[in-house]
Amino acid sequence: MNLYDSLLKYGSMDYYPMHMPGHKRNKALFDMVNPYSIDITEIDGFDNLHHAEGILLEGMERAAELYGSEHTAYLVGGSTSGILTGISACTQKGDKILTARNSHKSVYHAIYLNELEPVYIYPGLEPQFGINGGISPEAVEEMLIKYPDIKLLVITSPTYEGIISDVKAIAETAHRYGVPLMVDEAHGAHLGFHPGFPAGSVRLGADVVIHSIHKTLPAFTQSALIHVNGTLVDYEEVKRYLDIYQSSSPSYILMAGIARCVTLLEQKREELFSAFDIQLRLFYDRMKQLKYLKVLTGEAVRASGFFAFDPSKITVSVRGTDLSGMDLCNRLLNRYRIQMEMASKDYVLGMTSIGDTKEGFLRLGDALLEIDGQYKSDGCLTGLSDNKPAENKEPADSSFGNIQPPEVVMSQKDACKSPFDVILLSESAGRITAEYVYLYPPGIPLLVPGERITKGLLSRISEYREKGLSFQGLRDMEGKYIKVVAKEGSIRFGDCGRIRERK
Ligand SMILES: Cc1ncc(COP(=O)(O)O)c(C=O)c1O
Repeated sequence: MNLYDSLLKYGSMDYYPMHMPGHKRNKALFDMVNPYSIDITEIDGFDNLHHAEGILLEGMERAAELYGSEHTAYLVGGSTSGILTGISACTQKGDKILTARNSHKSVYHAIYLNELEPVYIYPGLEPQFGINGGISPEAVEEMLIKYPDIKLLVITSPTYEGIISDVKAIAETAHRYGVPLMVDEAHGAHLGFHPGFPAGSVRLGADVVIHSIHKTLPAFTQSALIHVNGTLVDYEEVKRYLDIYQSSSPSYILMAGIARCVTLLEQKREELFSAFDIQLRLFYDRMKQLKYLKVLTGEAVRASGFFAFDPSKITVSVRGTDLSGMDLCNRLLNRYRIQMEMASKDYVLGMTSIGDTKEGFLRLGDALLEIDGQYKSDGCLTGLSDNKPAENKEPADSSFGNIQPPEVVMSQKDACKSPFDVILLSESAGRITAEYVYLYPPGIPLLVPGERITKGLLSRISEYREKGLSFQGLRDMEGKYIKVVAKEGSIRFGDCGRIRERK
């Protein structure tokens, strides 16, 4: 069966999407003509994204007004293209950049391409769920004092799981040192439209903000926005890099989808976000009945000392049970036909939006309560009682909570371009990686080229593997081998495209 037929078949089935894109395939929000009938190129009357002066410019100006931004541009290559653009526009080759270590891989790719020197700032740890927390303004200030030649600060807020940093205070701190702040707000395009959700970073003083509107708003996959404000960033430079990183044939279907999303928000945001807020409140209220599973809440996030929480992210911890995140995810899929966004070692994540229906929230709530109700008082699931609840489960997944920050030995570019050896991953402790290792999602590298591999990281990787989590980054698709920087005197073998085992 080809991809198109598979998609049609899947769409006709009863799986409920607790994942992106934020339109949730909800036809009540938007219906559409045959897409071929509106798929054009830069013909008369339809402007040119790389030289916008007509209908596309008008659309981008409307988006800017909606978010309160001085400049906004459409992105058709997701937030990835906006992050590459923002970092490239704000730096010169060799510059130092202060970046949160829990950044998406696109931040690391921008560092690689621009040959930047990263200085990392580590997020706090949310202890109950074992997830990355936020970045504190105090920690930012400490680093800006320690490294006075930093040219750009990059943070991610909200995180994948919805933890929000104090962007206003962080922006004020960065500006005191003359440093622009770029916020990867890929997961927060819906913020600031209703009092039930925290404010968005554009209105909080960030200089560059990136939004994947396809993630949390009703828009086609790959549609995103970049917003630029203030005097620390040159918008002409941003436009120059958009020209470099974006297709010269941007899809009019994607751009029309962005324009429709903006119109929907201009006209109906109050109504749609009020209804969404009510559904979320009902859901979180019901989840108070859970005894073993646990749902992350704003109160818990704030009690852990973090600034704010985006309730549209539903994170369900399995730490009080004998299930892994993957077990719960499979159970929700196979028994209740609910597809979640992500499974991690100790939790599953659902993404919600104004595209969700009351039935969708009820289905997830009913399923979680039913699964929870099947537990006996010892925390073991009926029928699976040989699986004892794990004790002292470690902080999970992509969190940097309890791991020693890896030592950065050389730049990404030097590591990737150096002579290399291919060795067993399990025997790579002490060597310098020439490849990324990350869980996808969320795409936050556990290892970045140029970092020294530690035993702690290897045991974490094998633990994730036992839990069925999938790794990416390694060129060996089975994840058995890793490319490491060759020891002095050893001979380069293989090439960038192929991995061969050394005999
Ligand atoms: C925090 C974060 N930033 C950026 C991106 C990249 O966004 P996109 O998929 O729109 O390119 C992602 C994708 O998952 C992400 O989670």
